[in-house]
Amino acid sequence: MKETLRYLAGIAIIVMKETLRYLAGIAGPSGYGSNSTAEQVTQHSSSSSLLPCHHLTAIVTGATSGIGAETARILAKRGVRIVIPARDLKKATEVKECIQKESPEAEIVLLEIDLSSLASVKRFCSEFLSLGLPLNLLINNAGKFSQKLEFSEDKVEMTFATNYLGHFMLTELLLEKMVETAAHTGIQGRIINVSSVIHSWVKPETFCFNQLLNPNNYNGTDAYAQSKLANILHTKEIARQLKARNARVTMNAVHPGIVKTGIIRDHKGFVTDSVFFLTSKLLKTTPQGASTTCYVALSQQTEGVSGKYFADCNESNCSALANDESQAHMLWKQTRALIRTRLRQPVT
Ligand SMILES: NC(=O)c1ccc[n+]([C@@H]2O[C@H](COP(=O)([O-])OP(=O)(O)OC[C@H]3O[C@@H](n4cnc5c(N)ncnc54)[C@H](OP(=O)(O)O)[C@@H]3O)[C@@H](O)[C@H]2O)c1
Repeated sequence: MKETLRYLAGIAIIVMKETLRYLAGIAGPSGYGSNSTAEQVTQHSSSSSLLPCHHLTAIVTGATSGIGAETARILAKRGVRIVIPARDLKKATEVKECIQKESPEAEIVLLEIDLSSLASVKRFCSEFLSLGLPLNLLINNAGKFSQKLEFSEDKVEMTFATNYLGHFMLTELLLEKMVETAAHTGIQGRIINVSSVIHSWVKPETFCFNQLLNPNNYNGTDAYAQSKLANILHTKEIARQLKARNARVTMNAVHPGIVKTGIIRDHKGFVTDSVFFLTSKLLKTTPQGASTTCYVALSQQTEGVSGKYFADCNESNCSALANDESQAHMLWKQTRALIRTRLRQPVT
């Protein structure tokens, strides 16, 4: 109950802040704002142009529902070839059919993945790489909120395993393909980590690697916030490394806004449902929730922009902890070491 009240209070604060901006309806320097939809931000106009979509291939994780499904729909509509990694291929087939109903020319490839499993991520990457496709965009969008403490098959807390570790591994195994594609095509590659404003709730003293893997006192909201902070730190560190090697690939993090999607299904209940019912007109719609990702992925305005955090289709500020370069580097080193040891263990 205490956990639910804390969650609801947090949501209420975020919703109030979002609401003021949303109601003001003011567009930022990009020309877009909190109420822009993914469709609007990817329309060619005299003031904004896009990457050459018909030459692009994108991997969008978590495209079987919510923000990811809308991201995939819009990118496909603009002509991008979409690869959907999914743990439920039946659901992915339904999304594919739905997209192709609207965009019959859309090329959509479905492959299996369970992001909470390092072995599964590795399998997905070998399968994808064996297809010989280029890779221009990697959208690390899938996400999970877990009310109860659960562990992945690699013995890592499930939220952290899914939201952070799986995407970390995916990025590691696909990075060279992206660098190669960018060098070959001359089109800048882009990696996007879908994070959340909730990352700013994490206090430095509570952000400890061993506790992220195996928390003593589990709290679903804290675990989710920490995984979203890790997404930004990952973004910062890889962006720094890509710059250092002069690679034509950028990496940015986004906060999509508060959208009533499957991610909050763990919070079902009368109180939660009532709060969402009362504020429903003020939350973002799913097309609005997918706009920042689509903007950062396709706009020419974000060419060369890397290591940044975006919200409402504009560059925004993340927390001081998320901006801490030494924290980002340490987390990267600890994660690499963990993956090495976990993958040495036989997978049961
Ligand atoms: N909604 C919001 O208010 C909000 C706010 C801030 C940030 N975000 C972020 O936005 C992103 C998208 O969330 P959403 O709101 O669209 O949630 P959603 O509707 O629940 O979608 C989550 C997606 O992630 C996939 N997924 C979960 N666990 C997976 C796993 N182990 N392996 C592979 N795929 C997995 C789900 O696949 P299945 O279909 O198989 O379940 C689904 O496609 C998340 O990163 C979330 O943290 C959302």
